Amino acid sequence: MTKEAETSKDTTTTSTNKSDKYKTKTILVAGGAGYIGTHIVVELLQAGFSNVVVIDNLCNSSREAIRRVEKITNANVTFYEVDIAKQPEAVNDICTKHRFYCCIHLAGLKAVGEKCPTPIAILPKQFAMHNELARVSQSEQMQQLHLSSTACVYGNAPVPYTEKDPAGHGLNSPYGKTKYFSEEIIRDFGIFFFFKKKKRGNPFLFFIF
Ligand SMILES: NC(=O)c1ccc[n+]([C@@H]2O[C@H](COP(=O)([O-])OP(=O)(O)OC[C@H]3O[C@@H](n4cnc5c(N)ncnc54)[C@H](O)[C@@H]3O)[C@@H](O)[C@H]2O)c1
Repeated sequence: MTKEAETSKDTTTTSTNKSDKYKTKTILVAGGAGYIGTHIVVELLQAGFSNVVVIDNLCNSSREAIRRVEKITNANVTFYEVDIAKQPEAVNDICTKHRFYCCIHLAGLKAVGEKCPTPIAILPKQFAMHNELARVSQSEQMQQLHLSSTACVYGNAPVPYTEKDPAGHGLNSPYGKTKYFSEEIIRDFGIFFFFKKKKRGNPFLFFIF
């Protein structure tokens, strides 16, 4: 084996060990019965993450989706039918019980406003949900919060967008506005949390587009 091959083998082993460390952690997938959520849950289970918990109010999905995930992966998914915006106590109890390491936040109404005559009526519920997840993410053991945002936050910026593009300018849909403000809410919680715990270099907040 060449020195180069040995080095690359070592690197692979090290990164495998490193990721193995995380596979015992408990991951919360909020909105995990939905389109993206079910795919992420399948990927997590197939990658060896054994403790995956889904919270979903099933407003745009069904229990059948969870059953199919279990069938595909031959694994059990702990599932709670809970409305994150309306049942903060239930969310709290679940978080206390499972002590999540990471939350992947996919719960939300897609394309708010596109078909909605009064998008403003929906916004408080959306914000209540982001606020609730941001709040529980402050628990001692929660290290990461991933929010599924949207490219709409870049408004009328020229494509292709990059993450360095400024978000929030020229927003042209209620959906984009909701996501942009949600990012801001969660960013504020993230900064506060980051300094409170003084864990420099520990990534806390990620946006998925
Ligand atoms: N699908 C896309 O192409 C796309 C692209 C960019 C961003 N996103 C974002 O990703 C997220 C997931 O998208 P998706 O396509 O999987 O949508 P989806 O509607 O299939 O999944 C969202 C899930 O959230 C649940 N949910 C909604 N409100 C809830 C609440 N109050 N409490 C608990 N659960 C709740 C729904 O029942 C559903 O199962 C959304 O926030 C969406 O805006 C989606």
